[in-house]
Amino acid sequence: MDIIIKNGKVVTDEKTIQADIGIKNGKIAVIAKNLKPEASKIIDAKGMYVMPGGIDMHVHFNLFFCGSYSENWDTGTQAAACGGVTTVIDYAIQTKGKSLKEAVESRMKDAEGKAAIDYSLHGGITDWNENTRKEMSYYTQNGIPTFKMFMIYRSQGWMADDAVLFSALEETRKTGATIMLHAESAIILDLLVERYHTPELMKKYGAYCHSLSRPCYTEYEAVSRAAIWAKATGGRVYIVHMSASESADIVRRAKSEGVHIWAETCPQYLLLTDEVFKKENGHYYATCPQLKNKHDLQGLLAAVKKGSVEVLATDTCTFDTKQKDMWNGDFTKIPYGMPGVETLLPTMYSHLVRKNGLSLNRFVSLVSTNPAKLFGLYPGKGTISKGADADIVIFDSKKKVTIDYKKLATKCDWSPYQGMELTGYPVMTISRGEVVAENGKYTGSAGRGRFVPRKPGGKI
Ligand code: URP
Ligand code: ZN
Ligand code: ZN
Repeated sequence: MDIIIKNGKVVTDEKTIQADIGIKNGKIAVIAKNLKPEASKIIDAKGMYVMPGGIDMHVHFNLFFCGSYSENWDTGTQAAACGGVTTVIDYAIQTKGKSLKEAVESRMKDAEGKAAIDYSLHGGITDWNENTRKEMSYYTQNGIPTFKMFMIYRSQGWMADDAVLFSALEETRKTGATIMLHAESAIILDLLVERYHTPELMKKYGAYCHSLSRPCYTEYEAVSRAAIWAKATGGRVYIVHMSASESADIVRRAKSEGVHIWAETCPQYLLLTDEVFKKENGHYYATCPQLKNKHDLQGLLAAVKKGSVEVLATDTCTFDTKQKDMWNGDFTKIPYGMPGVETLLPTMYSHLVRKNGLSLNRFVSLVSTNPAKLFGLYPGKGTISKGADADIVIFDSKKKVTIDYKKLATKCDWSPYQGMELTGYPVMTISRGEVVAENGKYTGSAGRGRFVPRKPGGKI
């Protein structure tokens, strides 16, 4: 063996057992009790949980958005590793008039040699035509079976209208691809943004205008429409970054009728409300969809506990304070997005398992096994089983940490969770059999991550 992890509690989505793990050539070779300590490296995990590495299937590295680039692949993925995440999925979003192929090739070039952990890409469709339909079919069979579409961003030219969404969903029924849907109602949203975009209201409310112009119905109307189109077409839809309680109700009802619909929510919608806009630098928190209120936060927590939300992902889109400050008092010019991939596992463990009684196995399914199954990475990733990639996080469930951006590995100079007190933190991250992070420090080589092709037709 290259590595043996001894004395830990191995946690998967199904069970928790006391066992040792032997790793050879980057894969899990054996799981057994009392393995002989014969390996180049022995890791003592006494008192620790040994879990499959986190899979954050919603990140945006080096994304040009609202006039600035988000944190790049190198430091972003190193931060992910420090937080126990071993795979990320980013987006290759087509630009108008250009092919999906151009977007994929450009993002591949962007990540190669920079990513510290394994990565994959979702396609992003903003220009639906016969060629895009063919490309969608090609990529579904060739490693990229998931495609983001936007019901918003009309002025940017990214919006998929109902006809486009309906047509794409029809394709997914035939091919097993999945539409990753940004569900917000463009038309109502644009109307409300215009109403708040006046010197008087911006003077009165500041960045809070961002929140006021995005009430929860702008999301759940779109989720409801998407669920209807998924039902009508028999297509496959996954609601990304779901932020409203009523959206979760709609998804649950549609699922109970047999619609192929799944949903993710993000730590920011479970931990924060739009009260943050009353803070001195409230504009830092502008994201899309916007943070909602206490009712939504509680509704989403209930949905996570009931199992009608399948995935926790972060929508990491990291802009530092200098970039955020570019807004100059105009809420439509704030670069939207937050850091988060590094704190996904510890914040969600503390909040869901410690405070809200979620089982450890359900926690593992939400942050690792479910995304692996739904997005075609399983069983190579998302589990601890013989033959799987040795992507493992060793987690100290008693370690107390107060979040401080200065101590995190991300380059970002603020954290939405600054000062939050956590119990439970990753202490070691192993990616394909290599220790890449220890106690919050990246220890792997730069750019060692590999692109991982995925399969269509995932289900849980
Ligand atoms: O505000 C965010 N999260 N920006 C990323 C783009 C998106 O729509 O996911
Ligand atoms: Zn989105
Ligand atoms: Zn996103």
